[in-house]
Formats: sequence, structure tokens, C-alpha cells
Amino acid sequence: MTSGSEWWRSAVIYQIYPRSFADGSGDGMGDLPGITSHLDDLRDLGVDAIWLSPFFTSPQKDAGYDVSDYCDVDPLFGTLADFDDMLAAAHERGIRVIVDLVPNHSSDQHIWFQEALAATPGSPARSRYLFRDGKGEHGELPPNNWESVFGGDAWTRVIEPDGTPGQWYLHIFDESQPDFDWSNEQVREEFRRILRFWLDRGVDGFRIDVAHGLIKKDGLPDHFADPEGGSMGGDEADVPFWGQEGVHDVYRDWNALVSEYDGDRALCGEAWLPTLEKTALWVRPDELHQTFNFIYLETEWDAAALRAVIDESLRAFGSVGAPSTWVLSNHDVVRHASRLALTAVNPQGHGIGPNSPGQPIPEVGLRRARAASALMLALPGSAYLYQGEELGLPEVIDIPDEARQDPTWFRTEGERYGRDGCRVPLPWTADAPSYGFSPTGSSWLPQPAEWAEHARDIEAADEASTLSLYKTLLETRRVHDLGAGTLEWIPTSDGTLSFRNGAITVVANLGTEPVALPGGRVAAASSPVDGGVLPVDATAWLIGSPEVCGD
Ligand code: NOJ
Repeated sequence: MTSGSEWWRSAVIYQIYPRSFADGSGDGMGDLPGITSHLDDLRDLGVDAIWLSPFFTSPQKDAGYDVSDYCDVDPLFGTLADFDDMLAAAHERGIRVIVDLVPNHSSDQHIWFQEALAATPGSPARSRYLFRDGKGEHGELPPNNWESVFGGDAWTRVIEPDGTPGQWYLHIFDESQPDFDWSNEQVREEFRRILRFWLDRGVDGFRIDVAHGLIKKDGLPDHFADPEGGSMGGDEADVPFWGQEGVHDVYRDWNALVSEYDGDRALCGEAWLPTLEKTALWVRPDELHQTFNFIYLETEWDAAALRAVIDESLRAFGSVGAPSTWVLSNHDVVRHASRLALTAVNPQGHGIGPNSPGQPIPEVGLRRARAASALMLALPGSAYLYQGEELGLPEVIDIPDEARQDPTWFRTEGERYGRDGCRVPLPWTADAPSYGFSPTGSSWLPQPAEWAEHARDIEAADEASTLSLYKTLLETRRVHDLGAGTLEWIPTSDGTLSFRNGAITVVANLGTEPVALPGGRVAAASSPVDGGVLPVDATAWLIGSPEVCGD
């Protein structure tokens, strides 16, 4: 692990969703000791860093994105000592560790919110959140028309300490997740304290949840949402709770704070915004270091569309001196091994279930996912992987209704399946109960019967597996320093993409016919390459390639 190298510019960062990674205690819920026990697997995979979704004290109404104590570990996941052990073990293996910071809202069980409920309208305790009087003769209507990202109203009315119905509080997510008021200096100071708490423990950075949402438009005006827009608002240009100018002050402040620490601590924002041009504003030199490239994630499997988004990403982020990031999957979207084969519109956050239209064909999805990952990992910049994609895991579509846990499912009364399908616990060992996820064989979400074939032990022993492909891609990317490289397009026929990054020539076939490769040694291929021909839905990396691939 090198220090002071702005490592995040080219790093491959692996997202761990702690609930579903590995269970050390046997309760069916993944935990920190489970992560520690598998760090060798991640070192062997070849990632530079891990990002852990929240493991802080939480009632788990939104899988830990509802935090009641930001400076402690939830007993479900272990203890602070377990965290320190995990951090030290990761660092010993040269793996950096990023933790998730959830500043837009707390849990309703957070001491501040409990104090706010016990206090009166207009009190300092209420001013840390967004309490407002309701509309209507008796304040019986919500203060505005905002809807929760998870469905339903974004406001809940409280019962005042005197027993009467009273004010409303804003929750852009579940009603158990009240939004902070970031115009309150106490809130700002508290988050500086939280940042320092984890920085002092030695974390290498933070992923910032809802980084585009902290500041709300003055006056909280009504909003008329686009019904086709993704849940996080990425498709819409002007939303009064997303992308407000004042949020940038917060990140300038945090940039200065993390700069006081050695070792290039990184800040990565989860900001769903309508254009890359706007997204790049979050990573100006004195703000965050990275932001997820969700526009890339949402691009369809189409050569021209991908080329355009790659060019625009490199241009927009480059114009502010930031690296582009690339990502295909995370815990909020349909896994790309299914998403890339969907044939119907599927807005982000809605998920897929047995009754969703446009069901993916698994073989097509996996083929495209492998090709898409091979394309992504050759791009200059930093790439994010989501646990399980290295095994080619698909979205789990047939989770029984009674097992579903995402608040989206409940708040929309089953109209949206939500995100459970990408959160199913990982298969480690084909012939062990719960595929080795838990020593007792329990699992907080049921795992599908077909997952034995995706188990890590099976894939590790198979040179043609998705796991072996990822290892080859990551090793080749490291040896040739592709993350710090530059991209040079090579002209190709329609439906095909080709570019050079240093010594590697990449050819991706997104068309309908096989294409001839230009020659050179195949360093990696997402599907078998026979006789120098690249099949449909496949990507190859070539070394020593003379030039253009042909029709
Ligand atoms: C984004 C997180 O990634 C998601 O899982 C969570 O539900 C919301 N923010 C609310 O914190």
C-alpha cells in the first residue's frame, strides 16, 4: 500500500454489503468477523480497496442506512474491536478500507430525533431536523407534495408531547429516516466529529450516502415528479431536494478536514444527477475526490451509447481534474448480469420480481455482464465492483413475498419489488449449508437452489469461470496500469467498440454478428475466442495487436 499517491484515482474498489458477505457468528446475518475471515479471497481477487455499506448501530429499518449511533458498531455486525481487527487485517494485505457515511438522515431512534419528538415546535431540538406545520385548517395536510424515494408521502405527522396531532417531519426515504436540517450548524459540527472519529481509527475514506440530497430548496416548494424517473431522481433536471447549490459548501468543509490527515483519505459521493456535467461539480478540486458514475451504470448495452458516455465521462470529470469512476452494480440496482438482458423499462430502485415485464434470459445476461465488466475494467480511472459480480451472480427474481425486506416493497404495497434481489447472501462453498455463507446454514434472505454453480470454490477451480475472468482482468489491469492510462479509440464497424489503453487493445462486440479480431495475443476474453473470432456480446483484451479489428 503506497501512501500519498492519490491511490483512489485508479483504484479498483470492491463494495462489501456486510449483511450478505459472510456470517461469522451463525445468526444468518453477515458481520465484521466474517469479512476478516475472507480478506485473503479479496487479496487474491486483486482489489485495491473495500467499501463497507453501513455496519453502525441501527434498528435496520433500511438495512443499516438508518443510523442511530454513528460512532459504534451494531451488535448484529460485531464490535468496534472487530472493526479495528478487520481494518488492521485489511491494511496488512495492502487493502484500503472505506466506510459509509449517512449524513442526509438519521434513524428515528437517534437520540437527537427522540429529543426532537419530546420537545416543542420551534425548539432547538426540532431545528436539527426538518419539522414543519401542516397545511389545511388544522394542519392535517403535509407541508408540501414531496414523495418518499421508497414510495408514499415524504412527511409524517407527529403526536406532540401533550397528546395532540402536531407538526410534520420530512423523510425523503422511510418514515424511520428523518432528514437532518443541514442549515443547522450543530448538524455540521456533529458530522465533523463523526468523520474524525473514523479517520482517527484509520479508515482510508468515506462513501457519502445521498451526497446530492443534504440541502433542500428554500421554502420547500412542491415538486411534480417524472413517473419514469429513477427513485434517486437521477433523470430529472430540477428537483427541490436533489442537487442544490448549498451542498457544495459541506464538501469543501470536509475536503479541508480530510486533508489534515495523512495518506490521501478519499471522499466518494453517491450523487444521482441528470448529467455528467453536473455530476462533475461534486468533484471539483476542493470538494469530493470521486463520485459514482451512475450515468454509465444506466447506459444500455449499445455500442454507440457506451462510446458516447465514456467520452463524456472522461471529458466532464477531466475538465475538473478528477478521475472518472465506473460502476455496473451495487446494492440499489438490479445486478448487471440480469439488468443487461432486461427487455422492458425498469426504473432504478423498482427491482424485478416474478411478475415484472421483460424478464431477462440468464445466459444472455451473464454473457453481457462478463463482456461489460471486461470493457469497464480496461477504462482509465477508478472502478467499483459489487460483491458477487465476480461470481456472475444474477438478480434473484423469485424471492418469496414473505421474505422480502426492502422498505420499498412495503411502502408501495408490493407494486415495486425493491432491492432485495441484489442483496442475497453470497455463495462461498457449493456443498455447504447456505453455501458456506453461515456456519449454521442460516441466511437472512433465501439463496436460490441454482447458486451452487456460482459458489466461489467451484469458480476458483474453473479457468473459464467469471471469477477466473475477473482475476485475469484485475491482474492485467494492474500490470499494465490501465487505471492510470489513457484511452484512444480505434475505428470499427457498427455495433463494435475498440480502443487502446497503453499496451492493451480492447475489442467489444455488442452487435449481432461475430467479428474478426485484429491479431495479437489474447490476454483476456469474456467468451471463448476461436480462430481469432470474437462472438456476439463479448470483449477481448489483446496485447501486441497491430491495428483495427475488421468486419
Ligand atoms: C442510498 C443507499 O445506497 C440506499 O441503500 C439507501 O436506502 C438510501 N441511500 C437511503 O439511505
